[in-house]
Amino acid sequence: MKKKESEKTDGFSRRNFIKTSAAGMAAVLAGKSVVFAPPANRTMRVGLIGCGGRGNGALGNCMEAAKHIDGLELEVVATADWFKSRAENAGKRYNLPSSRCFAGGDAYKKLLDMDVDVVVIATSPNFRPVHFEAAIKAGKHVFMEKPVAVDPPGGRKIIEAGELAKTKGLGVVAGTQRRHERSYRRTAYAVKHGAIGDIRGGCVWWCGGALWYKRKNTGESDADYMVRNWVSFTEMSGDHIVEQHVHNLDIANWYIGHPPKTALGFGGRARRKTGNQFDFHSVDLDYGDGCHIHSMCRQINGTDGGVKEFFAGTEGTTGGGGGLKSTKEKDIDIPDFPKQGAYVQEHIDLLNSILKGKPLNEARNVAEATLVAIMGRISTYTGKLVRWSDLTENEDSPWYNLTLKPTAEDFEKGEVEAPPDDVAPIPGAGERRRR
Ligand SMILES: NC(=O)c1ccc[n+]([C@@H]2O[C@H](COP(=O)([O-])OP(=O)(O)OC[C@H]3O[C@@H](n4cnc5c(N)ncnc54)[C@H](O)[C@@H]3O)[C@@H](O)[C@H]2O)c1
Repeated sequence: MKKKESEKTDGFSRRNFIKTSAAGMAAVLAGKSVVFAPPANRTMRVGLIGCGGRGNGALGNCMEAAKHIDGLELEVVATADWFKSRAENAGKRYNLPSSRCFAGGDAYKKLLDMDVDVVVIATSPNFRPVHFEAAIKAGKHVFMEKPVAVDPPGGRKIIEAGELAKTKGLGVVAGTQRRHERSYRRTAYAVKHGAIGDIRGGCVWWCGGALWYKRKNTGESDADYMVRNWVSFTEMSGDHIVEQHVHNLDIANWYIGHPPKTALGFGGRARRKTGNQFDFHSVDLDYGDGCHIHSMCRQINGTDGGVKEFFAGTEGTTGGGGGLKSTKEKDIDIPDFPKQGAYVQEHIDLLNSILKGKPLNEARNVAEATLVAIMGRISTYTGKLVRWSDLTENEDSPWYNLTLKPTAEDFEKGEVEAPPDDVAPIPGAGERRRR
């Protein structure tokens, strides 16, 4: 049913939010997850762009989140995927007709043309800047998966669109879910309130085994192959330092309070089978004032793993999500943040913020974490020291306009040529050069 104009965009009357927000704020301060009660029996319409494993999972988490908010109903109205079968499979879970399960490079546009309030975006990361910008221009609230770009212009586009979202009163939450996880929120609170003093150094890890990979089918287009095998191509995923390790880099930025000034690292490709990514990176991130964070990530079977963070400060130490060792700990009254799992809590926080009329906006945080990872990757691929300003300010830098091709626009135009398989950058020879 078509909604009235007054119910569109954020779906709710702001007068009603104001009536309930004082009680909601009291609940937040008391550490409860159910916060701003919206007017009873309101429906928000949700669409999904990118119907793979995480897209289906995130949409389910979003639907689950609504159950924690009194009076809120969510209705899934459309799906969009590169492949029709995936859009339809996701749509079937919500009884959508095939006509509302869009496919192809412009499927996101068809979905955004619909009367949708919230969009869940979970394609491979290379499409995120174009899809996110389009969603914000179309007036949608957004949940988008991490990472949010594969190159510096993409990261900057996310920041710009995030600023636009603020002016339009739109909510933006990213899939860097540790920011919604109780253990991390408690640790972040303690760190921000001086529990370990000034952070002087630390280490962040995402080390594990190899992910899945796909071989090219006979007669398959390069575009379909790259979409199916996206975790092996830097142009699609950003490399695993971006795709996975972004989570830990985001924690370092969050706890220290700003991104690093420089990155200098090394890495290589030892055992990967397809695509052009490295499978290990080790990067020194200089956050300034003598604070260095060692970033290390690896995707090699049979090696020791670990996904975690460690910070050493002038007054103590801590892991990212707990393990605080500080003489000051007992002086800090840490709030009892919601106990709900982070994958659902991030949607509760987004929806509640929309209902409150004070939409969360995590675009800059996730873009900065993504750009730090890209900065590390440029350094490991080239062997050069890379400055934050090279990606964000210095237009004369060779990396400021570094654009990985095929771009999202190339996919939409049908102009995709896959890079060769099993060819990786050689440090010292310049980014993206062949062996
Ligand atoms: N926050 C987390 O813990 C977490 C966990 C897993 C994945 N992720 C992220 O979620 C995203 C998706 O990962 P996944 O594991 O679901 O991958 P996936 O391959 O299972 O799904 C991606 C889907 O996007 C579709 N797609 C690709 N290009 C598209 C386009 N232009 N338009 C519409 N659809 C398109 C693909 O066909 C596929 O169905 C990635 O960014 C990944 O890093 C986050």
